[in-house]
Amino acid sequence: MPSVDAPGVITIADLRRLAKRRLPRAVFDYIDGGAEREITLGENTRAFDRVLFRPRSAVPTYSCDLTTTVLGQTIALPVLLAPVGSSRLFWPRGEEHAARAAGKAGTVYTLSTLSGCRLEDVRAATAGPAWYQLYLVGGRDVALGAIARAKAAGYNALVVTIDTPVAGLRERDWRNGIEQLLARDLRSLPYAWQILARPGWLVSFLRDGGLMAFPNIELPGGPMPYADVGAALKQSMVSWNDFRWIRDAWAGPVVAKGAHTADDARKAVDHGADAVVVSNHGGRQLDGVAATLRVLPEVVEAVGSRTEVLFDSGVRRGGDVVKALALGARAVLVGRAYAYGLGAAGEAGVARAIEILRSDIVRTLQLLGCSSVRAMDRSYVAVPPD
Ligand code: FNR
Repeated sequence: MPSVDAPGVITIADLRRLAKRRLPRAVFDYIDGGAEREITLGENTRAFDRVLFRPRSAVPTYSCDLTTTVLGQTIALPVLLAPVGSSRLFWPRGEEHAARAAGKAGTVYTLSTLSGCRLEDVRAATAGPAWYQLYLVGGRDVALGAIARAKAAGYNALVVTIDTPVAGLRERDWRNGIEQLLARDLRSLPYAWQILARPGWLVSFLRDGGLMAFPNIELPGGPMPYADVGAALKQSMVSWNDFRWIRDAWAGPVVAKGAHTADDARKAVDHGADAVVVSNHGGRQLDGVAATLRVLPEVVEAVGSRTEVLFDSGVRRGGDVVKALALGARAVLVGRAYAYGLGAAGEAGVARAIEILRSDIVRTLQLLGCSSVRAMDRSYVAVPPD
């Protein structure tokens, strides 16, 4: 398989192809897929095509400043790694590899509650800032345990995901039998061929200990097994009351992830959010909601003066990052863009994904005649009237 540093690997789409070659179909589709008809998944990326640049020619931009701040911390580029559950299925100790790559690139890694690695080990893997994403799986007592551990380990902020009252229907996962495979029951046999077709992945997965529980969800009977995740998410909805409770329990910066409208962003800020992520979970939850790029301007207008507005869903190129900044985002989170890299080559693949986005951003800024991400604004883009 070609290396992620081969001359032909120049886009996130190239990393996606490499991940597809290495991962079993069920694992690749878990990363790649969206909910139901995947309308929102497609809309998220198409929305970027409709926003067009308005460059300024003959402006010297020999060096571009990509640094910015989020929640008071300086990051080297306006791209953060989003929480991606079960990353350990993509690469042995996947969460630690991704965190290390983010730290070396000078940006934030966000660890999902649904991590296969202990949150303390992931924190120790990066010298950069790290955020912990909380689902209320197992209820408030279980969350309190995770919050205390995340605090003690030195996580800098808590991300509360508010768009997951239940898991979306990811049809590819069902067709690939992912639930049966994770439950390791006899019904998984018809699906086993996908795994056997990727012996390299299988060997590395088994060496890493195979299917384990989620070490950061400590239920009374022990860590939550992988097979219980669907049922558990059905009972972990976060209400606004819960949100305020979490905020008080954490007593540090809190990020609300999953605002789809200006109204929800306002509620998040009213309930104490220090930052809001305009996100539709990468089209994995409610299919048919608008692309996040379309709602970003209304959210910025509603809460931009009171809080930091972050953005995710659909970012595949540095040009997409620049468009989101032009429409008012302070920085963006990426999920699949780095998950493909992780699935292709572990830490090296994540580093390559970040480097691809970084060099895209620099080139785009230079072509736009803008020398700093902090100077990017609406005057650099044309937005369609609808
Ligand atoms: C996610 N996402 C996610 N979000 C979250 O809050 N907790 C989680 O455990 C997960 N897990 C997860 C797994 C996988 C495989 C993906 C692709 C995504 C959503 C993620 O944080 C982010 O919102 C989206 O990935 C953004 O969209 P893009 O960048 O993937 O288009």
